[in-house]
Amino acid sequence: MPSYVVVGASRGIGLGFLKNLAANPDNTVIGIARNPSAVESVPNVTLLQGDLTDAASLKAAASKVATITKDGAVDHLIVNGAYLSYDTEFITPRGFVDKEDYFLSEFQKAMHTNVAGVLFAVNAFVPLLKKSAIKKVVALSSGLGVPDLLVSSNFSTAIPYTTSKAALHILIAELAVEYKEEGIKFLSLSPGVVSTRPDPSTLYPNWTGPFSVEESVEHQLKVIEGLTLENSGAYLSHWGNKEWL
Ligand SMILES: NC(=O)c1ccc[n+]([C@@H]2O[C@H](COP(=O)([O-])OP(=O)(O)OC[C@H]3O[C@@H](n4cnc5c(N)ncnc54)[C@H](OP(=O)(O)O)[C@@H]3O)[C@@H](O)[C@H]2O)c1
Repeated sequence: MPSYVVVGASRGIGLGFLKNLAANPDNTVIGIARNPSAVESVPNVTLLQGDLTDAASLKAAASKVATITKDGAVDHLIVNGAYLSYDTEFITPRGFVDKEDYFLSEFQKAMHTNVAGVLFAVNAFVPLLKKSAIKKVVALSSGLGVPDLLVSSNFSTAIPYTTSKAALHILIAELAVEYKEEGIKFLSLSPGVVSTRPDPSTLYPNWTGPFSVEESVEHQLKVIEGLTLENSGAYLSHWGNKEWL
């Protein structure tokens, strides 16, 4: 009866994880969302309130999860939610000249949700992960947090988002180091291009277009299955390697 907690599960890929995982009646599936009453109802899923920017809400959610899962354990924590900063998606570094306050506002929102929020979620759920035999933590990352890919694809925009995902890779690496002896495995996992992202077809002419949420989730679950203490702390794509498309 493996258990899965998906944080930031209201829509998109997070909701896709809930639907995929809940289709197996053996799974215990819990979704955490800022506004659970607005989330599409999925059979075999318990929805709880929680906001990545609010550590107290995540601790409260973890307390409730402990009363739902077998022995109060959590096998898989998937932190999916993120601040996408869509308004800065096409702004390059020089676009922030004389717009420093605006940059800081977007940067702080991205770092708060995408980095601090992941740390808050992990800290809230570590006591439950320790009770599991599986002990896996996955944070949804992005190839846009990988310097080599940005340079090779001439990508110079969306800085609050891209820098927050790069920082997430470091956070996950440090968590992997800290919890190795306790057997908790950590992974930064890019889901591939799933919806509206800049068209990468000029860099990869054979690219066939974005994945559906369902396809991406299926690929990601295979990579999560392969997460071990040996590769804990890595950042990987939905292919389980460094191919981001
Ligand atoms: N789609 C892609 O092509 C792609 C590519 C690379 C990486 N990713 C990553 O994949 C993950 C999911 O992306 P998506 O495309 O599914 O995005 P999405 O459809 O925009 O969904 C974003 C999710 O994050 C939640 N969220 C935002 N702020 C939150 C907070 N403070 N606390 C809790 N939840 C919060 C949203 O909840 P609300 O409904 O409450 O706003 C929503 O459920 C993200 O980490 C993203 O960076 C996506």
